[in-house]
Amino acid sequence: MKILRKDLLDLRSLNAGQVQSLLDLSLVALQGGLPRDALQGRVVALAFFEPSTRTCTSFELAARRLGAEVLRFDVARSSVQKGESLLDTARTLEAMGADALVLRHSASGAPHFVARYVRCSVVNAGDGMHEHPTQGLLDLLTVREVKGRIEGLKVVILGDILHSRVARSTAYGLGLLGARVVLCGPATLLPSSLDIPNAVWTTRVEEALEDADVVMPLRMQVERAAAAFVPSLGEFARLYALTPERLRRTRPDAIVMHPGPMNLGVEITPEVAYGPRSVILRQVTHGVAVRMAVLYDLLRHPTVHPELRPVAQRLPAGVS
Ligand code: CP
Repeated sequence: MKILRKDLLDLRSLNAGQVQSLLDLSLVALQGGLPRDALQGRVVALAFFEPSTRTCTSFELAARRLGAEVLRFDVARSSVQKGESLLDTARTLEAMGADALVLRHSASGAPHFVARYVRCSVVNAGDGMHEHPTQGLLDLLTVREVKGRIEGLKVVILGDILHSRVARSTAYGLGLLGARVVLCGPATLLPSSLDIPNAVWTTRVEEALEDADVVMPLRMQVERAAAAFVPSLGEFARLYALTPERLRRTRPDAIVMHPGPMNLGVEITPEVAYGPRSVILRQVTHGVAVRMAVLYDLLRHPTVHPELRPVAQRLPAGVS
């Protein structure tokens, strides 16, 4: 039974059953249960308009492990540098045979926009400050695997919530599956509104960490000017970094997660990041499994969407 329709653009448009099914399929992938040739003959294009280590590499591994061909589009050496539009780039990759376009872009909503005008599947690999759905899924899988459940757990997401697409996907998914989510950071880094089920907000880190089952500090998004929202990175670290002392407030079996890349000494100290409670590298491993599950579900039996044809007639005036 197919879980997703044409694309994976965000977690917010999925229901709890779809999220659980994707986690179940990811577990099958993690245990080596997906056929190695399931996507033979399919082409997965990776178009990363922002830097990435984990997401890009794990999508490539995931596609190859399922037998797909991978087209790694190099934005810096491409005709994007000559002014080619995002949509023309996407349609060009599709015309070369891409069955899926894995897209990371600094503009929130870029994958949603592209998905309306291409017939191939679009997977959001992180769009601006909006969502990072496969990161959300791998975070959920990690919590479920390590803690044995999600429902009823207290999960603290700490730091730069405002700029974090990870926070939006992970917090939403956790809340949807019944975790108690606490979003904690300086007032300037907490969004004024964010519709997350089962979530509360606080600026008080010591209180937030009491009895937590899971803590996930977030990277200070310096490239999105996050440093300008706090007096200094040193001050932020003094007040909000996850240190061994702060970690002692959590449950004795609490785990520490981080989506990566880390700013050591800013949102998390090395003792915590590399300490016995850390499951950060397990998150990375789970990332490959989740991306295998997503590509497998989308591409194994591609759905023809007649409403998307012909593409050219659907382009709004002025879009090229
Ligand atoms: N978590 C994450 O998206 O990492 P990358 O930027 O390395 O892909």
